[in-house]
Amino acid sequence: MTGMRATVTFQPQRLLAEVSLDTSLLEAARQAGIPLESRCGAKGKCGMCRVVLQDGSLTEPTEPERKLLSAAELKNGFRLACEARVAGSGEVALYVPPISLVQEQKYELEGISRIKSALDPPLRTIRVELVRALPGEESTVLTQLERLLRDAHGISMKTSAPDALGKLREAIEQGRDSVSIVVRDGGLIDVRQSDAESPRGLAVDLGTSKVAMFLVDFDTGETEESLGFMNPQVPFGEDVISRIQYAGGGTAEASRLRELVIDGINDRLEEMLSARGLSPSGVAEMTVVGNTAMHHLFLGLPVKQLGTSPFEPASIDVIERDARDLGVKMLPAGTVYMPPVIAGFVGSDNLAAIIATRLHREEGPCMLVDLGTNTEVALGIDNRIVCCSCASGPAFEGGAVRHGMRASAGAIEKVEVEMDGSLTVSTVEDAEPLGICGSGILDAISALIDTGALDERGRLVSGNPRVVDDEGERAYRLEPSSVIKGGWITVTQGDIREIQKAKGAVRAGIEMILEHVSISYNDIKKVILAGAFGTYINPASALFTAMLPPIPIDRIVQVGNAAGVGARELLCSVKQRKEAEDLAKSIEHLELVGYPNAHLFFASSMMLSEESVNDYMRKWHGIT
Ligand code: FES
Repeated sequence: MTGMRATVTFQPQRLLAEVSLDTSLLEAARQAGIPLESRCGAKGKCGMCRVVLQDGSLTEPTEPERKLLSAAELKNGFRLACEARVAGSGEVALYVPPISLVQEQKYELEGISRIKSALDPPLRTIRVELVRALPGEESTVLTQLERLLRDAHGISMKTSAPDALGKLREAIEQGRDSVSIVVRDGGLIDVRQSDAESPRGLAVDLGTSKVAMFLVDFDTGETEESLGFMNPQVPFGEDVISRIQYAGGGTAEASRLRELVIDGINDRLEEMLSARGLSPSGVAEMTVVGNTAMHHLFLGLPVKQLGTSPFEPASIDVIERDARDLGVKMLPAGTVYMPPVIAGFVGSDNLAAIIATRLHREEGPCMLVDLGTNTEVALGIDNRIVCCSCASGPAFEGGAVRHGMRASAGAIEKVEVEMDGSLTVSTVEDAEPLGICGSGILDAISALIDTGALDERGRLVSGNPRVVDDEGERAYRLEPSSVIKGGWITVTQGDIREIQKAKGAVRAGIEMILEHVSISYNDIKKVILAGAFGTYINPASALFTAMLPPIPIDRIVQVGNAAGVGARELLCSVKQRKEAEDLAKSIEHLELVGYPNAHLFFASSMMLSEESVNDYMRKWHGIT
């Protein structure tokens, strides 16, 4: 079979890939540029990567396919792209159902309304008169310019970018009287013939699922444009661990993930700039914050060690690189500033969120909970900050849930209990219901407990007219939908377990931090919920399901994308960078793996009411 190849065609996109035999359909889709959902990281567990065989031969259905696809689906050619492999040379034709494609989701870009950042940027623009020199004496001009800058502006030009010197030479040769120079760290990084264009900066919040970008004008500190897009690495695994495992496969795999995200940023940046008539060299500085795995993949640092205890980062230092070295299409001599990460699962995004929320300056115990596929909890208390990372998993973002989806059009995002005990749902963009996103499912679970359809241990109650047997699993029929097999969007017993694990991980992290610093939740003055999910969840549902400890609801604030706000502040202010760098050295990281009785904290935190959490803790942990 070696050397035999096949052509795999994907419809309706009409894209194709030439692959060797035994290549998985998911790999073929990636080669063809089809963004298939792959929430479990191609492990045959999520069932999201469905395609339909129209022609050609594939390997026999595997065990996971028999488990996740019904007999009727198998008969009709449905296959899991991560499991099925090309079995014969020639043509393979596949149909890709829309639901199997990665969906665009709504993004929470803004955070605390501090959109205008404090201005103290690491670079500045100066208008200088050029002293005419004889041809061949450009170095004299540079020497004179150096003297001028030193005497008039206190700048010592120790190092200058060759490109900038080239532009300077060009300006001299053209007989220009003056130019605008862009200086960073005492070096010339750019020369502009006009000062009409102020240098721009780009702040990037590089999340596992989403990438948020903010274009900032360094003259005013204003954010000119912000946009969000799905991390192009998502088809290679929904969560950080899947990404780490894929990248750990070899240099080619790690490079592939790196290139995908750099290309994604470059494409979006080009769109932002061309809409303003700016060239890529208009962006002279960039800041990227992200969790440790995203940070390492972006920089090309090794990530394999992040997947195993003790989850050591390859670097916890501030890293600055020239844009040209990273392949970012901005001013080649511009700097990409990467703030330090704190631990293997507490990244620079958490540091940025702390800076943005001023957690370190808050009086009294104050907690920041940045919710996502990985949730970071940071507690500010008595001039110290203690943080931990909770493996909340993809359930909050619609992953690992039968009808789960991201918060895109058609996702049920809100469930309310009416006076008569019936439930009403709201969908993103008021579109026809297609599935349910994280905020919706947390609301749904809260509503099911409220109406008695679900008990506090997370069991759907038999006898409720909406609790049915759905393909061998107990499920609650939440909302009819014409596009869903079976005609209903359901909340299954398995979904409830996934949410219990996710919310339990967050609550357990909170409890362990509180125990570690010897305070009670009653002492907490404020809980700040950040991140997209943190913005959209209903705090009442978070309290009702015991995801958060029972603090008064008016102590909870939702701030949106705090990491994105922090990234902008770090982009625009040297002072903030220094503050963040100092803070990173003092933040205490609490490792939950191996924390005494961690399993009991997790088990009790999975209970779905405050009373049952406490009962469990009293019974098994002796805590009253
Ligand atoms: S089942 Fe194929 S990617 Fe999850």
